[in-house]
Amino acid sequence: MNAVASTSPDYFHALYTDDDPFGCRHRWYEARKRALLLASLPAEAYDAGWEIGCSNGELTVALAARCRTLLATDLDPRAVELARARTATCAGVHVDAMHHPQQWPTGTFDLIVLSEVGYYLAPDALDALLARLPTSLRDAGVFVACHWLHPFDEAPQNGRQVHAAIAQALGAPAFRYEDADLLFEGWSVSPHSVAQREALR
Ligand SMILES: C[S@@+](CC[C@H](N)C(=O)[O-])C[C@H]1O[C@@H](n2cnc3c(N)ncnc32)[C@H](O)[C@@H]1O
Repeated sequence: MNAVASTSPDYFHALYTDDDPFGCRHRWYEARKRALLLASLPAEAYDAGWEIGCSNGELTVALAARCRTLLATDLDPRAVELARARTATCAGVHVDAMHHPQQWPTGTFDLIVLSEVGYYLAPDALDALLARLPTSLRDAGVFVACHWLHPFDEAPQNGRQVHAAIAQALGAPAFRYEDADLLFEGWSVSPHSVAQREALR
Protein backbone atom coordinates (compact mmCIF):
# COMPACT_ATOMS: atom_id res chain seq x y z
CA MET A 1 0.00 0.00 0.00
CA ASN A 2 1.35 3.47 -0.89
CA ALA A 3 1.85 5.87 2.02
CA VAL A 4 -0.22 9.07 1.86
CA ALA A 5 1.94 12.06 0.89
CA SER A 6 1.67 15.67 1.98
CA THR A 7 0.45 18.10 -0.68
CA SER A 8 3.39 18.89 -2.94
CA PRO A 9 5.06 22.32 -2.79
CA ASP A 10 4.55 22.37 -6.59
CA TYR A 11 0.82 22.60 -6.00
CA PHE A 12 1.31 25.82 -4.00
CA HIS A 13 3.90 27.22 -6.46
CA ALA A 14 1.31 26.90 -9.22
CA LEU A 15 -1.39 28.51 -7.07
CA TYR A 16 0.76 31.54 -6.28
CA THR A 17 0.74 32.76 -9.88
CA ASP A 18 -2.33 34.44 -8.32
CA ASP A 19 -1.55 36.84 -5.43
CA ASP A 20 -4.63 35.76 -3.49
CA PRO A 21 -5.27 32.12 -4.42
CA PHE A 22 -7.42 31.37 -1.36
CA GLY A 23 -9.48 34.58 -1.53
CA CYS A 24 -8.16 35.75 1.85
CA ARG A 25 -8.54 39.37 0.72
CA HIS A 26 -12.13 39.27 -0.50
CA ARG A 27 -14.02 36.26 0.85
CA TRP A 28 -16.39 36.85 3.79
CA TYR A 29 -15.60 33.28 4.94
CA GLU A 30 -11.98 34.38 5.43
CA ALA A 31 -12.76 37.72 7.11
CA ARG A 32 -15.26 36.06 9.46
CA LYS A 33 -12.82 33.25 10.27
CA ARG A 34 -10.13 35.78 11.20
CA ALA A 35 -12.58 37.72 13.40
CA LEU A 36 -13.72 34.54 15.19
CA LEU A 37 -10.16 33.35 15.69
CA LEU A 38 -8.96 36.68 17.06
CA ALA A 39 -11.97 36.96 19.36
CA SER A 40 -11.24 33.50 20.79
CA LEU A 41 -7.68 34.24 21.90
CA PRO A 42 -7.63 34.11 25.70
CA ALA A 43 -5.08 36.91 26.13
CA GLU A 44 -5.39 40.45 24.87
CA ALA A 45 -1.73 40.56 23.89
CA TYR A 46 1.04 38.04 23.23
CA ASP A 47 4.77 38.46 23.48
CA ALA A 48 5.79 36.15 20.63
CA GLY A 49 3.43 34.66 18.05
CA TRP A 50 4.03 32.16 15.25
CA GLU A 51 1.68 31.69 12.33
CA ILE A 52 2.32 28.43 10.46
CA GLY A 53 1.46 28.67 6.74
CA CYS A 54 0.81 32.40 6.43
CA SER A 55 -0.06 32.57 2.71
CA ASN A 56 -0.23 36.19 1.54
CA GLY A 57 -0.28 37.63 5.06
CA GLU A 58 -3.91 38.58 5.69
CA LEU A 59 -4.21 36.68 8.97
CA THR A 60 -0.63 37.71 9.74
CA VAL A 61 -1.62 41.39 9.72
CA ALA A 62 -4.52 40.69 12.07
CA LEU A 63 -2.34 38.64 14.44
CA ALA A 64 0.38 41.30 14.40
CA ALA A 65 -1.99 43.67 16.17
CA ARG A 66 -2.10 41.22 19.12
CA CYS A 67 1.58 40.22 19.21
CA ARG A 68 4.69 42.19 20.22
CA THR A 69 6.67 40.01 17.81
CA LEU A 70 5.27 37.63 15.21
CA LEU A 71 6.97 35.01 13.06
CA ALA A 72 5.05 33.99 9.95
CA THR A 73 6.26 31.01 7.91
CA ASP A 74 5.25 29.46 4.61
CA LEU A 75 6.84 26.89 2.31
CA ASP A 76 6.12 28.88 -0.83
CA PRO A 77 8.61 31.66 -1.76
CA ARG A 78 5.95 33.79 -3.50
CA ALA A 79 3.65 33.53 -0.46
CA VAL A 80 6.57 34.70 1.68
CA GLU A 81 7.14 37.67 -0.66
CA LEU A 82 3.46 38.59 -0.57
CA ALA A 83 3.27 38.27 3.22
CA ARG A 84 6.38 40.43 3.62
CA ALA A 85 4.84 43.14 1.45
CA ARG A 86 1.49 42.92 3.26
CA THR A 87 3.13 43.25 6.70
CA ALA A 88 5.76 45.82 5.73
CA THR A 89 4.23 48.45 8.02
CA CYS A 90 3.54 46.08 10.93
CA ALA A 91 6.00 46.34 13.81
CA GLY A 92 7.73 43.17 14.99
CA VAL A 93 6.73 40.89 12.09
CA HIS A 94 9.24 38.54 10.49
CA VAL A 95 8.30 36.30 7.55
CA ASP A 96 10.43 33.25 6.69
CA ALA A 97 10.32 30.50 4.09
CA MET A 98 10.03 27.17 5.93
CA HIS A 99 8.63 23.76 5.08
CA HIS A 100 7.24 22.17 8.24
CA PRO A 101 7.82 19.90 10.01
CA GLN A 102 11.20 19.33 8.30
CA GLN A 103 12.19 22.92 9.00
CA TRP A 104 11.48 24.47 12.38
CA PRO A 105 12.08 27.91 13.91
CA THR A 106 14.30 28.51 16.89
CA GLY A 107 12.80 30.26 19.89
CA THR A 108 9.58 29.76 21.80
CA PHE A 109 6.15 31.33 21.41
CA ASP A 110 3.17 32.11 23.61
CA LEU A 111 0.81 31.96 20.61
CA ILE A 112 1.01 29.43 17.76
CA VAL A 113 -1.64 29.43 15.02
CA LEU A 114 -2.21 26.60 12.53
CA SER A 115 -4.99 27.90 10.32
CA GLU A 116 -6.04 26.03 7.15
CA VAL A 117 -2.71 24.21 6.88
CA GLY A 118 -2.97 20.92 8.77
CA TYR A 119 -4.96 19.06 6.11
CA TYR A 120 -2.16 19.56 3.56
CA LEU A 121 0.12 17.42 5.72
CA ALA A 122 0.17 13.64 5.50
CA PRO A 123 -0.77 11.99 8.82
CA ASP A 124 2.87 11.16 9.67
CA ALA A 125 4.01 14.72 8.87
CA LEU A 126 1.20 16.22 10.97
CA ASP A 127 2.10 13.86 13.85
CA ALA A 128 5.74 14.96 13.57
CA LEU A 129 4.67 18.62 13.67
CA LEU A 130 2.46 17.98 16.70
CA ALA A 131 5.22 16.08 18.49
CA ARG A 132 7.55 19.05 18.06
CA LEU A 133 5.02 21.75 18.85
CA PRO A 134 5.13 21.58 22.69
CA THR A 135 8.87 22.33 22.65
CA SER A 136 8.03 25.67 20.97
CA LEU A 137 5.12 26.63 23.20
CA ARG A 138 5.78 28.64 26.35
CA ASP A 139 4.18 27.84 29.72
CA ALA A 140 1.46 30.47 29.43
CA GLY A 141 1.04 29.76 25.74
CA VAL A 142 -1.90 28.85 23.54
CA PHE A 143 -2.05 26.82 20.34
CA VAL A 144 -4.98 27.53 18.03
CA ALA A 145 -5.94 25.33 15.09
CA CYS A 146 -8.60 26.33 12.59
CA HIS A 147 -9.78 24.33 9.56
CA TRP A 148 -12.37 24.19 6.78
CA LEU A 149 -14.41 21.05 7.34
CA HIS A 150 -15.25 20.04 3.77
CA PRO A 151 -12.84 17.51 2.26
CA PHE A 152 -11.13 18.51 -1.00
CA ASP A 153 -9.03 16.56 -3.47
CA GLU A 154 -5.72 18.40 -3.03
CA ALA A 155 -5.54 17.69 0.71
CA PRO A 156 -4.57 14.26 2.06
CA GLN A 157 -6.66 14.80 5.21
CA ASN A 158 -9.84 16.66 6.13
CA GLY A 159 -10.31 19.18 8.92
CA ARG A 160 -11.89 16.69 11.32
CA GLN A 161 -8.99 14.28 10.91
CA VAL A 162 -6.56 17.10 11.64
CA HIS A 163 -8.37 18.11 14.84
CA ALA A 164 -8.68 14.47 15.92
CA ALA A 165 -4.90 14.08 15.49
CA ILE A 166 -4.29 17.24 17.51
CA ALA A 167 -6.58 16.05 20.32
CA GLN A 168 -4.77 12.72 20.28
CA ALA A 169 -1.44 14.53 20.70
CA LEU A 170 -2.44 17.38 23.02
CA GLY A 171 -5.60 16.23 24.80
CA ALA A 172 -8.96 18.00 25.06
CA PRO A 173 -9.08 21.61 23.83
CA ALA A 174 -9.68 24.51 26.23
CA PHE A 175 -12.10 26.19 23.80
CA ARG A 176 -13.75 25.47 20.46
CA TYR A 177 -16.08 26.87 17.83
CA GLU A 178 -17.78 24.85 15.11
CA ASP A 179 -20.30 25.51 12.37
CA ALA A 180 -21.19 23.78 9.11
CA ASP A 181 -17.97 24.90 7.39
CA LEU A 182 -15.36 25.57 10.03
CA LEU A 183 -13.85 24.17 13.20
CA PHE A 184 -11.40 25.93 15.41
CA GLU A 185 -10.05 24.82 18.75
CA GLY A 186 -7.50 26.15 21.21
CA TRP A 187 -5.16 24.33 23.57
CA SER A 188 -3.85 26.33 26.53
CA VAL A 189 -0.79 25.34 28.48
CA SER A 190 -2.00 27.41 31.44
CA PRO A 191 -4.96 25.91 33.36
CA HIS A 192 -6.27 29.41 34.21
CA SER A 193 -9.36 30.74 32.46
CA VAL A 194 -9.65 34.30 31.15
CA ALA A 195 -11.68 35.25 34.27
CA GLN A 196 -9.10 33.69 36.59
CA ARG A 197 -6.32 35.60 34.89
CA GLU A 198 -8.19 38.84 35.56
CA ALA A 199 -8.96 37.77 39.13
CA LEU A 200 -12.70 37.83 38.42
CA ARG A 201 -13.02 34.41 40.03
C1 LIG B 1 -4.91 28.16 2.96
S1 LIG B 1 -3.36 28.95 3.24
C2 LIG B 1 -3.56 29.46 4.95
C3 LIG B 1 -3.46 30.97 5.15
C4 LIG B 1 -3.68 31.48 6.55
N1 LIG B 1 -3.01 30.69 7.56
C5 LIG B 1 -5.14 31.63 6.84
O1 LIG B 1 -5.74 30.80 7.52
O2 LIG B 1 -5.73 32.62 6.37
C6 LIG B 1 -2.26 27.56 3.43
C7 LIG B 1 -0.79 27.94 3.30
O3 LIG B 1 -0.02 26.94 3.96
C8 LIG B 1 1.18 26.77 3.26
N2 LIG B 1 1.67 25.41 3.59
C9 LIG B 1 1.11 24.22 3.28
N3 LIG B 1 1.82 23.20 3.78
C10 LIG B 1 2.87 23.76 4.46
C11 LIG B 1 3.97 23.21 5.18
N4 LIG B 1 4.12 21.89 5.32
N5 LIG B 1 4.86 24.08 5.72
C12 LIG B 1 4.71 25.42 5.58
N6 LIG B 1 3.70 26.00 4.89
C13 LIG B 1 2.78 25.18 4.34
C14 LIG B 1 0.80 26.94 1.80
O4 LIG B 1 1.90 27.31 0.99
C15 LIG B 1 -0.28 28.02 1.89
O5 LIG B 1 0.25 29.30 1.64
